Amino acid sequence: MNKFDITSEQIQLVVIEFYSRIRSDQELGPIFNAAIGTNAADWRAHEAKIASFWRNAAGLDRSYSGNPMLVHVKNSKVQPELFSRWLRIFRDTAEDILPDGAAHGLADLADRIGQSLAMGIGQFRERHGNAPNLRSS
Ligand code: HEM
Repeated sequence: MNKFDITSEQIQLVVIEFYSRIRSDQELGPIFNAAIGTNAADWRAHEAKIASFWRNAAGLDRSYSGNPMLVHVKNSKVQPELFSRWLRIFRDTAEDILPDGAAHGLADLADRIGQSLAMGIGQFRERHGNAPNLRSS
């Protein structure tokens, strides 16, 4: 069931433009370029995965399978304090590209998911420290 009106094509446009802005962002760009690289094919693969994540979140299809919490927890550069910046860029991108209803629906959804990711990462790090994948002792 669709929670708000948006198409796969609109999601695709937002994802492409969002990562173009993210990659040139002073704080967030280096984190993504370190994790994904600077190779165009690797970026296309990342964008395809993220587009499927959003289609799933928006109720359009069920092609995404992954564990975003784990992926972010494992990257010690992904800090909860950076989420408001990520979410601001995402909302600006959606509002610049999509009709109001779709932009607000998608950005509100990102806020909710982002809030729970940031909270989960914060709690995990409080318990286990900042680099849980390095050592178990
Ligand atoms: C400060 C904020 C954030 C940073 C720095 C960040 C960084 C990253 C990085 C570097 C990756 C790529 C990992 C890799 O493939 O090597 C990633 C993957 C991903 N991110 Fe984020 N992220 C942030 C916030 C968010 C938010 C708010 C969402 C959703 C609303 C999100 C959704 C995802 C998803 C779905 C993946 C793919 C997970 C998978 O591999 O299945 N991220 N993120």
